[in-house]
Amino acid sequence: HWTVDKNSGLSKGYPQIAQAAALLAQNETIAFPTETVYGLGANAGSDEAVKKIYEAKGRPGDNPLIVHVADHSQALALVSDIPAYAMKIMSMFWPGALTVILPQKEGKLSSLVTAGLSTVAIRMPDHPIALALIKEAGVPIAAPSANLSGKPSPTEAAHVAMDLDGRIAGIVDGGPTGVGVESTVLDCTKSIPVIVRPGGVTREQLEAVIGPVHVDQALMDETQAPISPGMKYTHYAPNAPLTIVKGTREFLQKLADEARSEGKKVGILTTSEYKEEFRGDEVLACGSALQLETVASNLYGVLRRFNENTELDLIYSEAFPEDGVGQAIMNRLMKAAGHRVIEE
Ligand code: TXA
Ligand code: MG
Repeated sequence: HWTVDKNSGLSKGYPQIAQAAALLAQNETIAFPTETVYGLGANAGSDEAVKKIYEAKGRPGDNPLIVHVADHSQALALVSDIPAYAMKIMSMFWPGALTVILPQKEGKLSSLVTAGLSTVAIRMPDHPIALALIKEAGVPIAAPSANLSGKPSPTEAAHVAMDLDGRIAGIVDGGPTGVGVESTVLDCTKSIPVIVRPGGVTREQLEAVIGPVHVDQALMDETQAPISPGMKYTHYAPNAPLTIVKGTREFLQKLADEARSEGKKVGILTTSEYKEEFRGDEVLACGSALQLETVASNLYGVLRRFNENTELDLIYSEAFPEDGVGQAIMNRLMKAAGHRVIEE
């Protein structure tokens, strides 16, 4: 576990990053911060290294990983048949919370990275520690989120340690991540690109640059098979069952009061503006309702905090608007809730 201050600049070079990069070069796994969530990295060219990622996370082998690069040329070396719109968004949004799916060039990556698919998911993270580490390692780095499979993604080094201590070679601690939800995954193998996972870069931002962008319709509907293999798995669920309440805050409070009158312990997920208005056994604020970015940033940490209260029988969450980053927030909340929604 190394601590690196991302604000003090990396120009002097950090011995911690050199150590972590050396372990990556020896095909070990290292957790590191990105601007979205912490990733669990390994050499994307090595079967031995990539296998360790799946083992440490308990991740199903049919769920492919994102390959992280430090510059554009490293990305272009891995893919072929790049449409003009994909070139445009890579130059506009990288480094950043956008992952592109493109046909892969044969023989560059471990086939475990892509779970045998002919395409590969690639992104350049917008974080000085991540970029320095990938550059120093000198190879593309496969990195899923650094949580046990099924748990909320880690937005702090402590979350990584909670899930993976003793299972990985090290953690580079760069403090809290910022964006808080994972990158947007965009399928760029079609003439019109498709968002297969909403995330830090919004549909609106993409459309402003390249025109129409489709969204995989299965994302909000549990009965349909999603395009992205990872989206079919249950994820993020807190220990006490979570239900999203669509309606007024009075309605949510009424549901909570009813459950409590039956002797149940009730958690409530709301925002800082309304925290004091609610009565429950664990009322947690997830950012500010006036700024959805702060909700995204705090979401996974709050879902983990509900588990600290082991007495809770159920959790009710407010719903959030589904535009901008709200699309990613509601997608993750719906997964955490197993698609349970009560409408007023
Ligand atoms: O923000 C992020 O993207 C973080 C940080 C660490 O970079 N990474 C992350 O990775 O969230 P992971 O493995 O937890 O999620 C990768 C998602 C999964 O839903 C996976 O199924 C999808 O990307 N994916 C990867 N390769 C794919 C491919 N070739 N085709 C379709 N979906 C793919
Ligand atoms: Mg993940």
